[in-house]
Amino acid sequence: MKKLLQLVLVGSLGLMCFSCYYDELPEETDALTEIPDEQEVSFSQDIQPIFSKCTQCHDGNQANPDLREGNAYDAIVPDYVIEGDGENSELFQKSPGNNHPVDVGFVLNADELALIKTWIDRGADNN
Ligand code: HEC
Repeated sequence: MKKLLQLVLVGSLGLMCFSCYYDELPEETDALTEIPDEQEVSFSQDIQPIFSKCTQCHDGNQANPDLREGNAYDAIVPDYVIEGDGENSELFQKSPGNNHPVDVGFVLNADELALIKTWIDRGADNN
């Protein structure tokens, strides 16, 4: 009988450890969309249109950087962009959907975030 109790104890201890292990796994995050090499990513065609969601606040007045058409490129390169390194660029890191400093009621989707990251990875050209 004692043996049985031990078995149950050891068994449940094992189960507890097992479940803790799984609790500590990171929450699943949305993977970014894969953008194929042959797909061009253009600042004017792909990135600036995303910023139309931002300019109610990023209007050169209320919040930096100024993301209005005509101003955005100079406002973000080089201050918010490390050319060739999207992952570590503030523009990517702080966009809604990543760690934007305030809740804006929406997030960029995996396609939009991937476009921003890829555009920077490829050199952040004014293309
Ligand atoms: C509802 C208003 C609002 C919207 C919409 C908004 N932002 Fe912001 N954003 C802010 C505020 C406020 C800050 C903090 C500004 C500061 O610290 O000067 C901020 C900060 C940032 C920063 C960091 C700036 C810094 O200097 O640290 C980035 C990058 C940024 N926003 C990108 C975006 C992008 C990209 C979008 C659109 C997809 C967007 N934001 C939409 C209000 C907004």
